[in-house]
Amino acid sequence: MSATGAPQVPAPLDQHVWPTSADLTPAGELVLAGLPATDLARDFGTPAFVMDEKHFRDRARLFRDSFTEAFAAVGAEVDVYYAGKSFLSVAVARWAREEGLRVDTCTGGELAVALRAGVPGAEIGLHGNNKSDAEISRAIEAGVGRVVVDSFAEIDRVAELARDAGRDSSTRVPVMVRVTTGIHAGGHEFISTAHEDQKFGVSLTGGQALAALRAVLDHPELELLGAHTHIGSQIQDAAAFEANARKMLALRADLETETGYLLPELDLGGGYGIAYVPSETPIDVAALARDLAGAVGAVCAELGTTVPRISIEPGRSVVGSTTVTLYTVGVVKPVTLDDGSVRTYVSVDGGMSDNIRPALYGAEYTARLANRSGSAETVRARVVGKHCESGDIVISDIELPSDVTPGDLLAVPATGAYGRSMASNYNHVLRPPVVAVADGAARVIVRRETEDDLLALDVG
Ligand code: LLP
Repeated sequence: MSATGAPQVPAPLDQHVWPTSADLTPAGELVLAGLPATDLARDFGTPAFVMDEKHFRDRARLFRDSFTEAFAAVGAEVDVYYAGKSFLSVAVARWAREEGLRVDTCTGGELAVALRAGVPGAEIGLHGNNKSDAEISRAIEAGVGRVVVDSFAEIDRVAELARDAGRDSSTRVPVMVRVTTGIHAGGHEFISTAHEDQKFGVSLTGGQALAALRAVLDHPELELLGAHTHIGSQIQDAAAFEANARKMLALRADLETETGYLLPELDLGGGYGIAYVPSETPIDVAALARDLAGAVGAVCAELGTTVPRISIEPGRSVVGSTTVTLYTVGVVKPVTLDDGSVRTYVSVDGGMSDNIRPALYGAEYTARLANRSGSAETVRARVVGKHCESGDIVISDIELPSDVTPGDLLAVPATGAYGRSMASNYNHVLRPPVVAVADGAARVIVRRETEDDLLALDVG
């Protein structure tokens, strides 16, 4: 309830958290690409991921153009691989390609989606610390642009599977070696440690990465394209990327000194941060590209070497803020806490099955009523899901209009990355659809799961 009973002017949208097409009607209803939230909920049901296609395309182009321009200034070309793990569907793979991106996959499943979308093999990369022979063979057969090998053992396996596929020194399989540089970043800090204690890649320490690169050179059926590194996620500034690039360039120089082979390419991975809540600031992609290119150019000049072709693999920062999850509010329950204060539990019709990030990482999100502005008076609320688990929390602590009521729509922005892609069927809840919106039109690009889908897997 408002104090005066007068209609409330809705609080403005924090534009860096919401899709660019998001707007509010005078009554405070959320509108996405010209479509009112209530229409979307009526036509597609809730929960639903609503994705702003133009925003996705703009982000993809921003990465491509910013990095291309920044690295052109130091004489290098860039490929941007969209990290499909953040969210991949046939439509999204096509949009990425239409905007000049390639596609990074890390399993046979992601590879299958990219291929189904018509992305040419040459524009796809395959990662993974534990690829199966079938995944490697499929990638070879599809002619992927790179297999990123993750261990010494895998180098030999890829070579063997390449031979099995009839590849030889004239039809080599392009390979990169994943290197761990000791730089781990995420949030605002980064650390550089001497030793690695994690599953990915081959460490720089003790000459291991160098040895892995040499091992690839020893296989006539493999083409050593370069070295790959990925230092973490949700990184907010250029310093960690620069420190990492410096280490990779030094490795490239060492390999050249030892073998005379100059790696044509370095992949500097993904991990570019976005804003999930209004207090966070997304990275400035163009500024970061300029800083990184400047640092790479300067190090190459110091080393007296040419700047390699560069690739990057952004996922979250392309797709994260394109998407809003629309939920319907169910039970609204005031709970009195030990200290006598009240917390209002607002249950929505999804939860940890469509967004596991709060439970898994303590990730924070914001939300607002999507069908109306609600009262100016607010309550201290916790948005929870419908799962049989007390940790099923979407937003731990948020002020919501005090008149929030069953049947209201609640919108949670910035759910495009690692939302639908990490969704589960916990409690046999049906995974939500992804609805793409553009220019006043909506279309389903991933349909809602049905009970028939669930039961189709249950063979009794
Ligand atoms: N390249 C490689 C090799 C990666 O491992 C990753 C992410 C990326 C690119 C893309 O990173 P991005 O630009 O999206 O940050 N599930 C976690 C994130 C795990 C990321 C794993 N690798 C989350 O929900 O935050």
